[in-house]
Amino acid sequence: MAALRAGTCALPWAGRFMASNRFSWKLASCKTALPATTIRPRRFATAASEPTPGKPYYITTPIFYVNAAPHVGHLYTMVIADVLKRWRVLIGETDAQLLTGTDEHGMKIQQAALAEGMEAQALCDRNYKKFEDLAKAAGIDYDYFIRTTEPAHKDAVQYFWEMLQHRGFIYTAKHEGWYSVSDETFYPAAQVHKSLDPTTGHTRTVSMETGKEVEWSSETNYHFRLSAFQEPLLDLYKTGFITPTAYAHNIVKSVSEGLQDLSISRPAERLTWGIPVPGDDTQTIYVWVDALVNYLTKAGYPFAPGQGARLGWPADVHVVGKDIVRFHCVYWPALLMALDLPLPRNVLVHGHWTINREKMSKSTGNVVNPFFALDRFGVDTMRFFLILQGELAGDANYDNAYIIRDYDKTLRNGLGNLASRAIGCAKGEVPTYIANGAEGKLPSPTSADTDYETQLRELPSKVASHMNSLNPRAALQEIRAIIELGNKYFHNTSPWENPTARQRSIYNIAETIRMTGILLHPFMPTKSKEILDMFQVNPQRRSFASAEYGSDPTYGESPKRRHLFPRLPFKDNE
Ligand code: ME8
Ligand code: MG
Repeated sequence: MAALRAGTCALPWAGRFMASNRFSWKLASCKTALPATTIRPRRFATAASEPTPGKPYYITTPIFYVNAAPHVGHLYTMVIADVLKRWRVLIGETDAQLLTGTDEHGMKIQQAALAEGMEAQALCDRNYKKFEDLAKAAGIDYDYFIRTTEPAHKDAVQYFWEMLQHRGFIYTAKHEGWYSVSDETFYPAAQVHKSLDPTTGHTRTVSMETGKEVEWSSETNYHFRLSAFQEPLLDLYKTGFITPTAYAHNIVKSVSEGLQDLSISRPAERLTWGIPVPGDDTQTIYVWVDALVNYLTKAGYPFAPGQGARLGWPADVHVVGKDIVRFHCVYWPALLMALDLPLPRNVLVHGHWTINREKMSKSTGNVVNPFFALDRFGVDTMRFFLILQGELAGDANYDNAYIIRDYDKTLRNGLGNLASRAIGCAKGEVPTYIANGAEGKLPSPTSADTDYETQLRELPSKVASHMNSLNPRAALQEIRAIIELGNKYFHNTSPWENPTARQRSIYNIAETIRMTGILLHPFMPTKSKEILDMFQVNPQRRSFASAEYGSDPTYGESPKRRHLFPRLPFKDNE
């Protein structure tokens, strides 16, 4: 589906509603905080992982800061989200929605603009495009690209703020702490330490978690009563909200130890580049509150009570890197609970790409330009590699040599070779063997056939089970495993020695190509189509249901041998 331009009301299912009702739901802002004792957060203990029937399946990526150009880490997040979306479409979900975009406010952007001698808006207008270009270049089938400088987003954030205030969750207080502009985060004194900067020889104070420099700040600002949500948050984590569970352990531990209220604004004299606090121009809304609300903006917020589902809310999956787990798994659900808004079903967290074991990061500068990588290796090769080698629970080291290794092993010498050899040795009889397979007229199976057929029969449900538990990597590993097994089976059963007698083997390899061709669609949409086209698989028989072994009698009339996966024209040392 074509992405809509920024600044328009981007959800077809939200547009009509927003046009007519948007502002009638605004409450006059209430400046007096209610006493804390009146706050009774609701408990949430519903199952978090099941999609709601009738609601669009709604997937998001983080919105990326526009202070610098995107790198392979951002590409990875986009690809995971896209694979999840394409999977939903493959299994027949008619309305799956993917949101990505850019985070354009905050101190970090303000400083980046200053450093470049540009207006902040001009910097955003220039840099957001690189993220949008990346999404396009990587074949991301996104439905909306949000920019937080859009007027509709500003309205949503200010409305959200007014509701928090109206319900008594906001108060003013003096705040002291260490602020990292790079992380856009306050850290308590116990979470920073002194560190020598080797490039300057100066000692700086840095966050212990991220190593980013912090500066002391003492100011009066607005606070959100985060501490009121400890119990409901702990209940929420019992529902499988955080995937993989490895990340849940840390969050549960830290929330159990206690939650402090959260500073949610900065004095406008320090931070001008952001959304003003409604009714108080001396304060600017904290960039993370602004940013998190983007997920609601594009679902048409503010919506009338009970109308969120029709519009897509709640999100089914927020895909995020492990650097922003706390924002998505503590602050975000607490903010939503404060407004009695339905909670996202899952936060899917992934690990980091590292270079020489150090996190790839815009601010460190050790980044791989994703446009070069896509050009050099091809879109589908990169998507395949990132999903196969990227880790959810841990980090993965990026290296060109690994990309070539995986491509050669699984795709070129694996799937590509198998397709071409099976066609070659059938000597024009592929359609006959496929017809015989579909009609149950193949020679009776040997034990090697039976073993392999069992694996083939089980493949779709294994892939589905991993995808439904939000583990695209494990799903792709299943596909890789069957390709490897298929090669061994082909080799062991040697159908080229007597193709007619061994036609069962050729049929099983044809099925392997057809089934993996379908199942690879979310990962490698272009190659998947090439594979299925090569075997003339009917476009109507390319959904998940058709991936079942033996279920398609109609393909392979005259498959042509061709190199599906040509040699990558690169050596690692180029
Ligand atoms: O945090 N490996 O934006 P950001 C894998 N604007 N993924 C990586 C990565 C790496 N080395 N580096 C970055 C922000 N990412 C906020 C988000 S959301 C409401 C606001 C990916 O530009 C990963 O998804 O710093 C990470 O969480 C995100 O980029 C951070 O992007
Ligand atoms: Mg970051």
